Amino acid sequence: MDFEPTIIAFVCNWCTYTAADLAGTSRLIYPANIRLIRVMCTGMVDPKYVIKAFLEGADAVLVSGCHPGDCHYINGNYKARRRIKLLKEILPQFGFEPERLKLTWIGASDGIRFADTITEMVSEIRALGPSQVRGKMVL
Ligand code: FES
Repeated sequence: MDFEPTIIAFVCNWCTYTAADLAGTSRLIYPANIRLIRVMCTGMVDPKYVIKAFLEGADAVLVSGCHPGDCHYINGNYKARRRIKLLKEILPQFGFEPERLKLTWIGASDGIRFADTITEMVSEIRALGPSQVRGKMVL
């Protein structure tokens, strides 16, 4: 049986969530492997949320929000960028491939970009195979 990854996506209400909505209303086609979690800003995505997603079986995690300079809370996306960078440095120590964690900026009118990003990410994670991280770390 082919491997179908589960991808958890923390998406900002104002930009990427709206882009996802636009992709849907525009009837764009993208893989159904994504589980969206709407947050008000990427700046509120605590690193613990990302780790918990992996521990509970996610094969990859996407954090996506407003472009730099467009954050509705001024600098939330800059905080997210720093946190994701640190997570990518720390998580390989637990056998985690950094490609499984992705940060993107997708604006509200970027429905096509949203669909393309999900399609590309699912293809990359299918090639990587299932996550081996599950159950290996303790919070
Ligand atoms: S409001 Fe969208 S990233 Fe901050």
